[in-house]
Amino acid sequence: MAKLLVLTVLGLALALFRDHRASFQTRISAFREVKPVELPNCNLVKGIEHGSEDLEILSNGLAFISSGLKSLVQKDLEPDKSGKILLMDLNEKHPTALELKITGSNFDLSSFTPHGISTFTDEDNAVYLLVVNHPDSKTTVELFKFQEEEKSLLHLKTIRHKLLPSVNDVVAVGPEHFYATNDHYFVHPYLRSWEFYLGLSWSYVVYYTPDEAGVVAEGFDFANGISISPDGKYVYVAESLAHKIHVYEKHANWTLTPLKTLDFDTLVDNISVDPVTGDLWVGCHPDGMRLFYHDPENPPASEVLRIQNILTEEPKVTLVYADNGTVLQGSTVASVYKGKILVGTVVHKALYCEL
Ligand SMILES: *[C@@H]1O[C@H](CO)[C@@H](O)[C@H](O)[C@H]1NC(C)=O
Ligand SMILES: *[C@@H]1O[C@H](CO)[C@@H](O)[C@H](O)[C@H]1NC(C)=O
Ligand SMILES: *[C@@H]1O[C@H](CO)[C@@H](O)[C@H](O)[C@H]1NC(C)=O
Repeated sequence: MAKLLVLTVLGLALALFRDHRASFQTRISAFREVKPVELPNCNLVKGIEHGSEDLEILSNGLAFISSGLKSLVQKDLEPDKSGKILLMDLNEKHPTALELKITGSNFDLSSFTPHGISTFTDEDNAVYLLVVNHPDSKTTVELFKFQEEEKSLLHLKTIRHKLLPSVNDVVAVGPEHFYATNDHYFVHPYLRSWEFYLGLSWSYVVYYTPDEAGVVAEGFDFANGISISPDGKYVYVAESLAHKIHVYEKHANWTLTPLKTLDFDTLVDNISVDPVTGDLWVGCHPDGMRLFYHDPENPPASEVLRIQNILTEEPKVTLVYADNGTVLQGSTVASVYKGKILVGTVVHKALYCEL
């Protein structure tokens, strides 16, 4: 009898696991093959070899790029180098990426591991940069002021909060006011891996100001990119492992009301919003298994989607760029400026093309 019980329990556990394996493979969109979609006049950006996880383009054509995420998902290709923030001037004919100097006495550069970034420009045209940082696998949000003349970032402040345990991305609404996605509930690597594998959907979105912070949306299976519409009225959240983008109405008191959800058959990563048209540009991973278990023989693919008229009944979704990993591996983000597109990756290169 005891044996039967043990067997039953084992059997149930195995069945559950098999189910889980199938649903896990669906969630990470395991091996979908990619039909190439090419863009004209593409060039890999000089100076970016090991990641361009996030990027943001200012209205004057200056682009900030975070590079050197010691990624939890891909093998670290440059283990000894700490992270950096790069600057590109997209007004140049052949723009290259320059490393920005970081100044400020209280900032530890050796453990700098930048992830999501967001800029805020105030009424005096001062530019602030918020950078998600993972020193020693923890999370902080670093506030910098951009010094254009000196080509440097002055570190102003390190923000830590118990509601910001595992931040992936931020979107600034003021120099020290932002929304953030936590891509995991847990911080401990072992618990994180189970949370991830079982798809507990415990990840969530937080607003933060120096005076208060709170959870404004929850129940995500890996909340990832977050962005805001040009008029500041709508917030977009990418739920990577559910293959969804959620649209929320933003209220003055920071709360978010769900408006609609769009479904995709790819892992949506970072969302950037065209300040002129309001279109969403999304870096995507069509084959998550290749991204999470990196094999140089079988590199992860890249896809870029454009979403127009997202608030209408029939948003238009276009696959603008797709590559099987031969040119560009693991695209995370795409952003446009004056007819050109810049595509970033988890730990690979960055591609600059005409549209
Ligand atoms: C995505 O890109 C936008 C704009 O380029 C930026 O505001 C945001 O922080 C990025 N997020 C992530 C996760 O890479
Ligand atoms: C926030 O504002 C919205 C819209 O005005 C309102 O419906 C909601 O009750 C407010 N929530 C809180 C917690 O004040
Ligand atoms: C990717 O596509 C290129 C050309 O379209 C092809 O030569 C290459 O073998 C493909 N690679 C993989 C890993 O599928």
